[in-house]
Amino acid sequence: MAIVTETYTLNTGAKIHKIGFGTWQIPNGEAHDPVRIALNVGYRHIDTARVYGNEANVGKAIKESRIAREDIFLTTKLPADVKDASKVEETFEKSISTLGVDYVDLYLIHAPWPWQERGADYTKENIEVWQEMEKIYESGRAKAIGVSNFDVDDLKAILSHGKIVPAANQIRWFIGSTQPEVTKFSKENGILVEAYSPLATGRILDHPDIKQIADKYHKTVAQISIRYCLQHDTLPLPKSTHEEYIIQNADVDFEINEEDMARLDLLESD
Ligand code: A2P
Repeated sequence: MAIVTETYTLNTGAKIHKIGFGTWQIPNGEAHDPVRIALNVGYRHIDTARVYGNEANVGKAIKESRIAREDIFLTTKLPADVKDASKVEETFEKSISTLGVDYVDLYLIHAPWPWQERGADYTKENIEVWQEMEKIYESGRAKAIGVSNFDVDDLKAILSHGKIVPAANQIRWFIGSTQPEVTKFSKENGILVEAYSPLATGRILDHPDIKQIADKYHKTVAQISIRYCLQHDTLPLPKSTHEEYIIQNADVDFEINEEDMARLDLLESD
C-alpha cells in the first residue's frame, strides 16, 4: 500500500499524503475505531471538521496510535456558518483543543456560505475571515490554510484580496461529477483539489459501466473511483467504517489506461 505514503506538494512546500481518510458522517463515539484502523493500516492523512463533531475521537485515535505528530497530516475546518471574522480565532482554538494537538496541517473554510443559505453571497465576510485564517497560518498553528466548496468566483475574491493563496480547495469530486471549471481554475492557481465523497457517498458503487472497467482490472468500483481521482491529480478522501474497505481503498497501486480514463471521463453518475 505504498500509495498512502506518496505525497503531493502544497504551495507552501509542505508534503500532503495522496490519500486522506475522510471522516464525514462518522459521529463522535464511532470515529475512534475507523481512524485507529486507518492509521494502523498505513494512512497518514486524516480529514475532519469541527462540524462533523468527531474531533475528540480523531484526536484520541491519533494520540493512541503513538505515531509521531509530524508524520501525520491532519486537516480540520472552520464551520461554514462562522462568517464573523472576530469568531475565527476562538473557533480554531476550540478545534485544536478538542483534537488535543498544538497545530493542524491544514485549516479550511468549510464553505463559502452557511449550509442553510447555500449560494448566498458572503464574499465580503469570506475575505475578512480569510485574513484571520492568514493570522493563524502566520502563528504556525495551521501549517497551511485553504477552502472547501469554493467556486471560481469565491476563489477569485480570496486571490485578489488575500496575501496568501489557499493551499487547497476541497470539493465534491467523483467519476461523473468532476467540477471541471473550478478544478481547472484551482490547479492553474497552484491550489490542490481535494476530492471529498470520491465514491459519491457510496452511490456509484454499483454503477454498471464502472463495474465493467473494475472487473477488467480485477479491482473494485471503489478502487477504480479512488484511482481515477489520483490520475486526475486530485486528492481523494474516501470514508469507511469497515476495516476491509479501509484497507481496500488504500490498495490502489495500479494504473487505469488512457482509453479507460477517457471512458470514465464521459460517464454521468450524479
Ligand atoms: P461504510 O462507511 O459503511 O464502510 P465516500 O467516501 O464517497 O463518502 O463514500 C463513503 C461510503 O462508501 C460509505 O457508505 C462507505 O461505507 C462506503 N464505502 C467506502 N469504501 C467502500 C468500499 N471499498 N466498498 C464498498 N463500500 C465502501
